[in-house]
Amino acid sequence: MTRLNNSPIGFFDSGVGGVTVFEQVKKILPNENYIYFGDTKNMPYGEKTPEQLLEFAVNIFDFLKNKNVKAVVMACNTTSAVVYDKIKDKYHFEIYPIIQPVAKKISQMPVKKIGIFATPATVNSHCYKKELQKNNPDIEVLEIPCPSWVKIVENGEEKTESARLAVKEKMDEMLKFSPEKIVLGCTHYPYLLDVLTEFAPANIFINPSVEFAGIIKEDLWAKNLLNQQDMKGSEEFYVSANPEKFKKSASLFYQIKSIPTLKNF
Ligand code: DGL
Repeated sequence: MTRLNNSPIGFFDSGVGGVTVFEQVKKILPNENYIYFGDTKNMPYGEKTPEQLLEFAVNIFDFLKNKNVKAVVMACNTTSAVVYDKIKDKYHFEIYPIIQPVAKKISQMPVKKIGIFATPATVNSHCYKKELQKNNPDIEVLEIPCPSWVKIVENGEEKTESARLAVKEKMDEMLKFSPEKIVLGCTHYPYLLDVLTEFAPANIFINPSVEFAGIIKEDLWAKNLLNQQDMKGSEEFYVSANPEKFKKSASLFYQIKSIPTLKNF
């Protein structure tokens, strides 16, 4: 199948996290056609092994390949950290991992101490630390895993007292390091910004989705892959389980109309 400018852009994540990226990209590229897949049956990815993550990602990439995508946005830090290197040369469409290009941009900022909140699998890979220090070896990095946060977000429990306590525990640990910036290194974490900003000013947090969306647009433009049609694009959402729960939790960032469940994941 030939990739065309009006071929869709695929997005995937373990669940609603990637919607924070999708929403940013859609805002600046409204004419594109989109396909989003949330692997809710297999979430949380942050607690899976590299072998499991590779298997999930290959299934999703194959699904998106069959949809004739021109690009896949890995709207998931965990697979960007653990799987991207293993699959990046295996497909004939553009692949955008979130960590690598965003870490490059962050490393050019005039800051020396950076905190990272991420899933256990992302922290174990030290992908953020490696990518930041590759570009600027003077940066001090502290990576803290937050295993309970993804489930809080998937369950739409951001406003509960237990969510507040879970965030407070990690913020207390992080603030002892006195970071100049804190990266929300999991696409689910921006859903917790209201709680996070109870403990530190909003401008300390970096939501990588914002920078990432600009990077994607720039690269598609440079490769002459942007959709030239002058009309609003289409969108399709799919999950591997619990569509109604997904719709409800995602609504903090994006209103989804319909969302079928796919069985083969
Ligand atoms: N939202 C994903 C990430 O950015 C995965 C979270 C999970 O399922 O553990 O890492």
